[in-house]
Amino acid sequence: MSSYDVIIIGSGPGGYVSAIRCAQLGLKTACVEGRETLGGTCLNVGCIPSKALLHATHMLHEAEHNFADMGLKGKSPSVDWNQMQAYKQNTIDTNTKGIEFLFKKNKIDWIKGWATIPEAGKVKVGDEIHEAKNIIIATGSAPASLPGVEVDEKIVVTSTGILSLNKVPKKLVVIGAGVIGLEIGSVYARLGTEVTVVEYLDAITPGMDGEVQKNFMKLLKKQGIKFIMGAAVQSTEATKTKAKVTYKLRKDESEHTLDADVVLVATGRKPFYDGLGIDALGVEMTKRGQIAVNDHWQTSVKGIYAIGDVIEGPMLAHKAEDEGMAVAEVVAGKHGHVNYGVIPGVIYTHPEVANVGATEEGLKEAGRAYKVGKFSFMGNARAKAVFAGDGFVKILADKETDRILGAHIIGPGAGDLIHEVCVAMEFGASAEDLAMTCHAHPTYSEAVREAALACGNGAIHM
Ligand code: NAI
Repeated sequence: MSSYDVIIIGSGPGGYVSAIRCAQLGLKTACVEGRETLGGTCLNVGCIPSKALLHATHMLHEAEHNFADMGLKGKSPSVDWNQMQAYKQNTIDTNTKGIEFLFKKNKIDWIKGWATIPEAGKVKVGDEIHEAKNIIIATGSAPASLPGVEVDEKIVVTSTGILSLNKVPKKLVVIGAGVIGLEIGSVYARLGTEVTVVEYLDAITPGMDGEVQKNFMKLLKKQGIKFIMGAAVQSTEATKTKAKVTYKLRKDESEHTLDADVVLVATGRKPFYDGLGIDALGVEMTKRGQIAVNDHWQTSVKGIYAIGDVIEGPMLAHKAEDEGMAVAEVVAGKHGHVNYGVIPGVIYTHPEVANVGATEEGLKEAGRAYKVGKFSFMGNARAKAVFAGDGFVKILADKETDRILGAHIIGPGAGDLIHEVCVAMEFGASAEDLAMTCHAHPTYSEAVREAALACGNGAIHM
């Protein structure tokens, strides 16, 4: 039996980051992971492989649509799907090995296998029981199932199966217009697949700013993605090579079917804690099936903490990372803090979509007086030079104090641009603070400054 100050269960972005911070704070640390490689869903079958495919197919799109206009003549590249898969795998491998290196560097023990918690202070992996003064559950999430839809990961697939299809499908039906559905839909649309997204609600990307939802959908339609909105998928029927999707339109209850070579089920994820034994331990849960925690990520059982997708909040890698660092501080007897009001969200389509803080709809509902500063990328010289004039930056600020309340960006590099607004919000900045900050020319970030200027006396290039 080995004993530790802290054992972390799960090596996704929440778990591995927490392990590194625990070790940096001088705690004897182990991390249990049952997969062959570290990094959890994000590195193995989520964020990272999907970004590799998004990058490769974006390059193809550029070659097909923009090269000739820049004077780069010749045939567009053809797709070698096996090589694209190998590139994706190589991206995964270098990242997962990187975490292994960081574990060694920080003297973190990787306990290989699946963990159970027989009692507080003990973690069982295989036949071995390890002692731990503190246990942090960071076991993440798994795709949620949909009644009437049976996943086989070949024809009817989740976000895992869709990354490793053995060929590019001719027709793809995506169930759910959330982040996963739209990122993956983009990948295959660029590869020439006929992509149809079936969405229950009347708008895509639930919870996002309404203006962004509308504009984003328009841009995706221009890229060839079809949408069937207000439609609840009832069932799928799959053979060895094809599938039929049945959906009902909400407005008139009429039933329709779609044929597909592959169906992606992207209707959300659910917290994953199978096999941990938390029922027997009496760990309290929320009504929505998440592990309940207090302000210090402590569960109802002393000495057991939980972070990331298994607890409340957006299921985002970076939210889990922040919680991972903060809980490490708590376990080490210091003060951990996460500002849940400033957690950005990014969709890695082209153009990218990013947001932080309040939406206009949320502010209206809260009765808060606000002002809007908006700037289109059409007024940004750098964006125009690279065929990226679609989209805008929108900053929401308090009407009286000018304090920034939120930002919404569709456009080139939106996922990076959003962070200057995040930093500004962390410092309680006003829109004027952003507007008075010199921004290098020519950069996309000038569009953020212009939106901030538009909250005051007006943008210059609009
Ligand atoms: P989601 O919750 O974002 O979207 C699911 C969509 O499916 C919703 O719009 C919902 O109305 C729709 N839906 C549900 N049942 C349906 C039915 N029967 N018929 C038609 N439509 C139906 O879920 P998604 O995209 O699966 O993502 C899961 C989680 O992973 C999210 O929390 C997301 O934030 C996270 N994620 C984040 C990424 C990023 O930050 N770039 C990338 C991938 C995932």
